[in-house]
Amino acid sequence: MSTLLITGGTVVSSTGRTAADVLVDDELIVAVLAPGSTLLGSDLTASVDRVVDATGKYVIPGGIDAHTHMQLPFGGTEASDTFETGTIAAAWGGTTSIIDFAVQTTGQRIETGLAAWHEKAAGNCAVDYGFHQIVGGVDEHSLKAMETLVDEGITSYKLFMAYPGVFYSDDAQILKAMQKAAELGLLTMMHAENGPAIDVLAEQLYNSGKTTPYFHGIARAWQMEEEATHRAIMLADLTESPLYVVHVSAKQAVAQLAAARDRGKNVFGETCPQYLYLSLEEQLGAQGDKTWGDFEGAKWVCSTPLRSREDGHQDAMWQGLRTNDLQMVSTDHCPFCMKDQKELGKGDFRAIPNGIGSIEHRLDLMYQGVVTGEITLERWVELTSTTPARMFGLYGTKGVIAPGADADIVVYDPHGHTSIGMGEGRTHHMNMDHSAWEGYEIDGHVDVVVSRGSVLVENGEFHGRAGHGQYLRRGLSQYLV
Ligand code: URP
Ligand code: ZN
Ligand code: ZN
Repeated sequence: MSTLLITGGTVVSSTGRTAADVLVDDELIVAVLAPGSTLLGSDLTASVDRVVDATGKYVIPGGIDAHTHMQLPFGGTEASDTFETGTIAAAWGGTTSIIDFAVQTTGQRIETGLAAWHEKAAGNCAVDYGFHQIVGGVDEHSLKAMETLVDEGITSYKLFMAYPGVFYSDDAQILKAMQKAAELGLLTMMHAENGPAIDVLAEQLYNSGKTTPYFHGIARAWQMEEEATHRAIMLADLTESPLYVVHVSAKQAVAQLAAARDRGKNVFGETCPQYLYLSLEEQLGAQGDKTWGDFEGAKWVCSTPLRSREDGHQDAMWQGLRTNDLQMVSTDHCPFCMKDQKELGKGDFRAIPNGIGSIEHRLDLMYQGVVTGEITLERWVELTSTTPARMFGLYGTKGVIAPGADADIVVYDPHGHTSIGMGEGRTHHMNMDHSAWEGYEIDGHVDVVVSRGSVLVENGEFHGRAGHGQYLRRGLSQYLV
């Protein structure tokens, strides 16, 4: 048991900011006090075990990244971050909880897939972790197994309208899964892209010699995302199942979400930093790299794809975050190295493993949105911590600085600076041979990271350990209307 006092900072929540000291006892926050308060003794700094001076800095609830894929077998290879390397990188960036996707592949039992995920993660995480369940094969067995998920602390599951032959569900399967989810109170998460149509377009492009990463974005046209988003909303409406659409990138998909929300539906959307900052033209179509030439764009092959800046998708994502048509920012962290992994798709964009690594940079990249005036300071906290906690049944324990909550706290310095990337003086701890964010400069810095009362990062050093992170049994969503 030890005590920690964070003094002199500005505590920022989703609803406001206030000068306050935060007292931690063991793993929990026990008091949020007016600065210099004598309520608990005349000199608290002298009586606690440790003091963190946050003068001039923000004190925020630890980040929650609700969409990660550690060690995901995908695209003929496996995502390059283990639960250990990925959660250490998360801690460096101020993320103190992740929700990863346990996988049921087609033909496998859900119980088997879930047990495998527990085995990968247990004892290896530097920060707390929970799971969503990917249901990759909706059949009688998996529908039955869904009934056990809530007891396992898994209250959300993901279906795919994309990736035929891998995780794909057809409309009949989606309908059945949503009916079951409505019965159980599970939140349906949807990868909303029309996979069968995309595969036809991709084959046609490939056959006409259009083989570079850029054409990944052309094949996965915005119409494919809008159509699938609309279809998912209609199926959710019919079955009265709450719906959370993952990795939204098309402005037309946001419009579909907004329309459903205007009708009072429990329909939610998440976007990711890549859809706010990166584009089809600049990244997927990159030509300049000496090593990779026109294959450099493979670094940014992910699905849904990066979209055209000219068409205004990035601006629409920021706007959706401001208007709450989009409620959250997760990373969809799914890293692959260029060497031996992305390289599998040299000469055929269809074989490039889909995914980008960003877990370390989410808080910083979103804080830059505060600096540039895209979002407020409070919205930054809401998008990266408070709403993820509420959406996925963790609020109260996570997502808030208040007595009784886990002491997951980040001290963020608005006068600090962060250079992202792998070069000298930059930050990158993910297990990758490149950074999708090389050269991004942030006008702020994650100074101190505390997870359940343990200081994981301080003075530019990592003090955490694999195994500190505990499994999070989640409750039902606390965000439904
Ligand atoms: O490109 C992506 N998004 N890779 C991870 C798998 C998924 O669809 O979320
Ligand atoms: Zn997906
Ligand atoms: Zn994903």
